[in-house]
Amino acid sequence: MTIYLDNAATSYPKPEAVYQATDQALRNLGGSPGRGSHRMALDAGRQLLDARECVADFFGIRDSSRVVFTANATEAINLALFGILNPGDRVVTSTMEHNAVIRPLHALQSRGVQVVKVPPGPDGCLQPAAVRDAVMADLQSTRMLVLTHASNVTGSIQPIEDLGPWCRRHGILLLVDAAQTAGLLPIHVEEMAIDLFAAPGHKNLMGPPGCGLLYVREGLRPTPLIYGGSGADSASELPPEQLPERLESGTANLPALAGLQAGIAFIRETGQHIIRRHKTELLTHLSEGLRALPGITLYGPSAPENLAGVLSFNLADHDPAEIAFWLDTEHAVCVRAGLHCAPDAHRTLGTFPRGTIRVSPGYFSRHEDIHILIKSLRTLLKSA
Ligand SMILES: Cc1ncc(COP(=O)(O)O)c(C=O)c1O
Repeated sequence: MTIYLDNAATSYPKPEAVYQATDQALRNLGGSPGRGSHRMALDAGRQLLDARECVADFFGIRDSSRVVFTANATEAINLALFGILNPGDRVVTSTMEHNAVIRPLHALQSRGVQVVKVPPGPDGCLQPAAVRDAVMADLQSTRMLVLTHASNVTGSIQPIEDLGPWCRRHGILLLVDAAQTAGLLPIHVEEMAIDLFAAPGHKNLMGPPGCGLLYVREGLRPTPLIYGGSGADSASELPPEQLPERLESGTANLPALAGLQAGIAFIRETGQHIIRRHKTELLTHLSEGLRALPGITLYGPSAPENLAGVLSFNLADHDPAEIAFWLDTEHAVCVRAGLHCAPDAHRTLGTFPRGTIRVSPGYFSRHEDIHILIKSLRTLLKSA
């Protein structure tokens, strides 16, 4: 049996209700939402609105029209960055970001956007004072603070609650990449004073691949990334002014969004704290087992309850990629090795260019899975 411990990439398996909702939408909601006024288009439109309201309610967003559906978190982040930033703007970010943030910011640098990266402490967690200092070094030009809510390499949770209200007071926009936390940690976007909130639907929210979202605070008017039909203002050559249509050209991925809604319902029914507790227990088991191995180095916060669902490690001089390959081929254990699309984080941790082995259990992972992983690593070390 395959043991999947790569839920930070995408969650698997999904709750049964997610498979059912996706299948039902594909079979029964054949119309395109917002396109046409026949009954099937209207049914599809109602499902889309339901999904939007469900997401808005889950994240404490009062006006669901400010939730824009995207294909994934990467698209949501690109939409926020390219849609808001202009030449001359200064952006403060961290060295713990994913390429979904690093690469668009790099592209924007060549268009005259200035990017400043703040390093974290040794556990991968940012000091709020260091972030504030970086902003204050040139408050006048600083337009935005862009932070991952939790590192996908170390699981370090960043102090968004602390920085959100501070940014608001200083007129700085806060874009949060919640790829690793949406669905795992309680998030109230409006209370946390987040202006732009990007999340995937397919990780901790347990929806299918092909869905993500961007929340855009009222008063912000991003330029679209994609232009085209939206079902609104069809006579105009300009994109519509209103959200979400302005930023959602093209036919929506309704089956994935119906699945996302079922994923959120599953989290609510099960209890987000219960899901988190189960993952923390698995990571505690893992961390205790790993600490008993010779030559082990663990990265990130030492207390498993401070991790956002992932644990990274290295074993002496072993190549992480070789270990992951061996775990897969010999023991059918799927973990991720390498840079995890976050090269700056590895430069910060001193693990560049080989990276780390990352384990990310899901809600359906069992203690037996962790036991097999640890036993396999022990066998490897004995035979090395
Ligand atoms: C921190 C972080 N940001 C962004 C992304 C990109 O997410 P998506 O695959 O939904 O585009 C990931 C994916 O692993 C991530 O871990």
